[in-house]
Amino acid sequence: MVALTFDDGPGQYTNSILDTLSAYNAHATFFVVGQNIDEETGAVMQRAVGMGCEIGSHTQNHADLVKADADTFRQQIQQADENILKAIGRYPYFLRPPYGDFNDDVRRHVGKPLAFWSVDTKDWKTRNTACTVSAALNNIEDGDVVLMHDIYGETADAVAQIVPSLVQQGYQLVTVSELIQLRFGDQVEPNRTYNYDYFRFQVPPLPA
Ligand code: NI
Repeated sequence: MVALTFDDGPGQYTNSILDTLSAYNAHATFFVVGQNIDEETGAVMQRAVGMGCEIGSHTQNHADLVKADADTFRQQIQQADENILKAIGRYPYFLRPPYGDFNDDVRRHVGKPLAFWSVDTKDWKTRNTACTVSAALNNIEDGDVVLMHDIYGETADAVAQIVPSLVQQGYQLVTVSELIQLRFGDQVEPNRTYNYDYFRFQVPPLPA
């Protein structure tokens, strides 16, 4: 199992990524920025949820939570939660802190499990379809969480190659929640950090 994840949307390329996922009955997780949610992108989020995808929070304004004061911190979490609730009828379960920046204070106060990744495609940096495809596929292992961004056309084009390739290799494309529950046999716990060490080194349960 592999979990593809997309940060910083929803945006103009999210729907095209959903088209690819839908063609392969694949799931993914979208860590959305609250300020990007409007009527149009809210409909895209509803489509994602209808396909079995998961919506997580990436804060209201892509804030660095370690640098935020207490009021800003609360607003960043709550406003994103409310916008997501309005769009899809439920609160997000996971938070992915912007810039991957967090500390023990953030973890304790956020009230959500923190979801990181084990494969960083650096798609935002290369803005190159071939680079993103090879970054995602070259080091992939069972249980990996792949970090991408659904606000770049190059990434949407890369996803159109990554998804069929992973499916052909026999990977099941699941959400982060599904990965934790089905691949690792764990219940998702609030205030827990799911990171590289978890996804790469957690020993999966023996088959029943
Ligand atoms: Ni981000």
